[in-house]
Amino acid sequence: MSPTVFVLNGPNLNLLGTREPEIYGSDTLADIEAMLEEKAKSLGLAIDFRQTNREGVLVDWLHEARKVGAKAVLLNAAAYTHTSIALLDAIKAIGVPVIEVHLSDPAKREEFRHISYVGMGAVDEVKGLGAHGYAVALEKVARL
Ligand code: DQA
Repeated sequence: MSPTVFVLNGPNLNLLGTREPEIYGSDTLADIEAMLEEKAKSLGLAIDFRQTNREGVLVDWLHEARKVGAKAVLLNAAAYTHTSIALLDAIKAIGVPVIEVHLSDPAKREEFRHISYVGMGAVDEVKGLGAHGYAVALEKVARL
């Protein structure tokens, strides 16, 4: 069986496609999932792709990644990236490598986006590449 990679998406990412397309592009989350499914197959990986608007659910899913022995987690925690010590603690607790993903590059945006608690625990990051960044992050997982 192919190793599984959790792909976890946080708040407001369910609105991709219509949400500020000048920043996030016109791909929907379903488009990204379909693209990533193809990429995963070509890399011999399986993905478990999810989205929630709730911080605690992201924490629970990180715990689940450990429980099921996921190979890695791609995490776009959206705004919780910049606020959530709970997510940082979860990342540190699970012992599963987490790669931080963002469609935009938060470092080039408002100052409140410059801090990343997720980044303090992640092994790597992909930012500012739009939807394609998820594929780049999956390639990084294949090399782990
Ligand atoms: C985001 C960047 C975050 O700052 C923002 O809150 C998001 C999306 C991105 O993918 O570019 O919701 O994570």
